[in-house]
Amino acid sequence: MKIIDQSLLQLLETWRNELVQANTDQQLEALRITYLGRNGRINELMAQLKTMPLEEKRAFGPQIQELQQIITQELQALQQTFITQAFNQELNKQKDFDVTAHVPSALDKPSGSLHPYTHLIERIEDIFTSMGFAYAKGPEVETEWYNFEALNIPADHPARDMQDTFWLTTPGLLLRTHTSSVQIHTMKNQQPPLAVFTPGRVFRHEATDATHDFMFMQCEGLLIDKNISLTHLCSLLKVFMRGLFEKNDLSIRLRPSYFPFVEPGLEVDISCIFCKTGCALCKKTQWIEMGGSGLVHPATLKACGIDPAVYSGCAWGIGIERLAMLLYGINDIRLFHSGKIEFLKQF
Ligand code: DAH
Repeated sequence: MKIIDQSLLQLLETWRNELVQANTDQQLEALRITYLGRNGRINELMAQLKTMPLEEKRAFGPQIQELQQIITQELQALQQTFITQAFNQELNKQKDFDVTAHVPSALDKPSGSLHPYTHLIERIEDIFTSMGFAYAKGPEVETEWYNFEALNIPADHPARDMQDTFWLTTPGLLLRTHTSSVQIHTMKNQQPPLAVFTPGRVFRHEATDATHDFMFMQCEGLLIDKNISLTHLCSLLKVFMRGLFEKNDLSIRLRPSYFPFVEPGLEVDISCIFCKTGCALCKKTQWIEMGGSGLVHPATLKACGIDPAVYSGCAWGIGIERLAMLLYGINDIRLFHSGKIEFLKQF
């Protein structure tokens, strides 16, 4: 069926004139509403049909439908053209995009960098995971039991004093004073054999100076299996320290000490990484203190439901800032969470 009605042909012409002038999606949408919308031209014509005699209806009705189809098709064709044009424009823009171009303003904008903690934890993680250790995490808010009791630290131990520990207002809750509490979570939740390392924040209620802070980081290590001895502890620490400082001739020294959750308890020293004969950093001793260690106390194993007659273990705790200060030549522990951009920019 062809459109022969003059008024419809006129409308089609007007539509086409208006269509060629539409340049944007918005203009096209406005045209669609004018012609095909609920109160648009086509619906107006349809409404007129109702009042027409049957003969006229038969002749006029199909022509309106045809007009509606033509308008719809032409509208869709132009919509498609617009989409293709926009797509090609975008493609062209990308063609002109030079990834190697120098952007002067980018130099003025501050760029991010990794915190020395992140650098160091990644290095520690590399070394321990290469030895089959798993990364373990524990909560920073602890109960007295996990932080002290299970670690064989008795109620009258000075570490439980108000002077040393941040106690929360809820009785029995505190900010962990060491990552040794993660040893307890690990032993309670998993069956031996166990090999974990746990870097994390710890909190001490004490005055700050260049080498002490109220918040710092430790990395705990724990190995539980049958027949674990000081030999394991010594060689694990040696592999770790040699890997971290990238020094194959670095030596480990273990000195008797006391930590309630290990027996024997041992202080860990490394041979000075700066000298062979004594310098200011090792205070002329040729050794640098790194942390505590020992063989897990039977009372600690028992508290976690592990039979000390079957299993034994070794553990150690090292201060992460101390490592970072030596590795990166940082002279004040308080810089780590000072938020100073000048400090952070160096990493
Ligand atoms: N938790 C101790 C501290 O913060 C360090 C420590 C000593 C951890 C001996 C250990 C250990 O695992 O065996 O001073």
